Amino acid sequence: MLVYTASLCLLWASCILAAPATKQTRQKVLLISFDGFRWDYDRDVDTPNLDKMARDGVKALYVTPPYLTITSPSHFTLLTGRYIENHGVIHNMWFNTTTTQTKPYYQTQFVNEWWDNGSLPIWITAEKQGRKSGSLHFPGTASTYQGMTPTIKEVEPLLYNYKDETKWRKNADKVMGWFKDLDLDFVALYFGEPDGTGHRYGPDSPQRREMVKQVDRTVGYIRDSAERHGVSNHLNIIITADHGMTDVYRNGLVEEITLSKIPGFAFSDLSFHLVDFGPSGMLLPKPGRLEKVYNALKDAHPHLHVYKKEEMPERLHFAKHERILPIVLWADPGYVINGYFPVQFHKGEHGFDNQELDMKAFFRAVGPAFHKDLEVGPFETVNIYALMCHILGITPEVNDGHLDATKHMLVTSPRPTSGEPVNYLQKVFMGLSAVAGFLLVVFMVVMSHKMLTKKHKNKRLESSKDLTDKEVSKVTSF
Ligand SMILES: *[C@@H]1O[C@H](CO)[C@@H](O)[C@H](O)[C@H]1NC(C)=O
Ligand SMILES: *[C@@H]1O[C@H](CO)[C@@H](O)[C@H](O)[C@H]1NC(C)=O
Repeated sequence: MLVYTASLCLLWASCILAAPATKQTRQKVLLISFDGFRWDYDRDVDTPNLDKMARDGVKALYVTPPYLTITSPSHFTLLTGRYIENHGVIHNMWFNTTTTQTKPYYQTQFVNEWWDNGSLPIWITAEKQGRKSGSLHFPGTASTYQGMTPTIKEVEPLLYNYKDETKWRKNADKVMGWFKDLDLDFVALYFGEPDGTGHRYGPDSPQRREMVKQVDRTVGYIRDSAERHGVSNHLNIIITADHGMTDVYRNGLVEEITLSKIPGFAFSDLSFHLVDFGPSGMLLPKPGRLEKVYNALKDAHPHLHVYKKEEMPERLHFAKHERILPIVLWADPGYVINGYFPVQFHKGEHGFDNQELDMKAFFRAVGPAFHKDLEVGPFETVNIYALMCHILGITPEVNDGHLDATKHMLVTSPRPTSGEPVNYLQKVFMGLSAVAGFLLVVFMVVMSHKMLTKKHKNKRLESSKDLTDKEVSKVTSF
């Protein structure tokens, strides 16, 4: 009887905590990133498939990427749950300040030490805990981590055409095949658009709207493909992005930021610099020249922010790593930072402060783990890692996110009514659960005690089995 009581308590506890569990019910996760898909890109385009996904699952108003809001750093935050200053992939470009050598985005994918800098992507965490994972084109795929790789991976070839919708569909089918035939638990899938189109034509262009339609068709295709492959029952699909996009002002509209034109500033005071990369920059002054460089730049342009690394606003979480250079620069939306003279001609840009609404990314999720037709408030993308680990039933590595930020989206927690009262309702629920749990335990202890004594008393009068059965029905109807 005591064993029975205890197991009933356990059952009850596991219902409340609801960790996704056993082999048959094990849930899978597909993490998809559409590079540069700003949070509001579905507002001026007809997106029937994204709308259906929102009805069938969860939609966040927007999600906040980490700073620096650029591709590799932000994607690695999705994969590790760490802020950029903690995972170390602080830029799209690898660089060596001694040799002043740099490598562009694609080559940097293959610099193992750049990526494998102490944080593990979720596909490795999953493999280490007996799950099988894969990655297709996701930033960080080319590297190994502590010598490990996912079960299957595919790096895009150099000069890959990121816009080819036929390839998008093939990749979607390939990934669904991995889930089905290789029984993978987790896959990360990356699409390089609408980022490219947003850069080239600007976020408000008809070209960008066309590309969002292509994304929408692909989302429909991906969900159909999951059905066709018979994996949709256990598959959770999370779709998000690394950052947003904003218009760049130029053509004499504004005074551009060009460092060489700033009085008192000289490139000869630097031993290394990383500028001409959108709105962000980092400088390494020569020994003894930090103050000079800093003072020359500090109030030089009303839309240029200049910080010593150790004085960076804490909310940006972009200071602690040794790779971050002693002076950090960033520009307000609409501006980019030029070095010697303007060499940047994008109509759209990102890399700005992650507080800016235009830098926010979109988020949708659908699958057995998620509520249906639920719209939630904003959260930081650093929390998505913990959410995915929870659904997969694996223990996360040390990370900067928390399940509290997203768990109201899960069916294992009560459905929130609206944005703010979520925490309050959850607290009330948890409080009531605790009280109910306590009462249940007290009740069971009392009952089993009573039954034991009764049993002893009545042993001579009737069979104890009948009695136990009666008591059991009493307990289970509680
Ligand atoms: C940069 O290059 C120097 C000189 O070749 C080398 O000693 C150093 O280890 C390199 N640093 C990094 C981080 O690659
Ligand atoms: C991260 O990389 C830096 C060089 O950029 C190196 O000094 C440091 O030891 C690395 N940390 C880990 C944990 O790999």
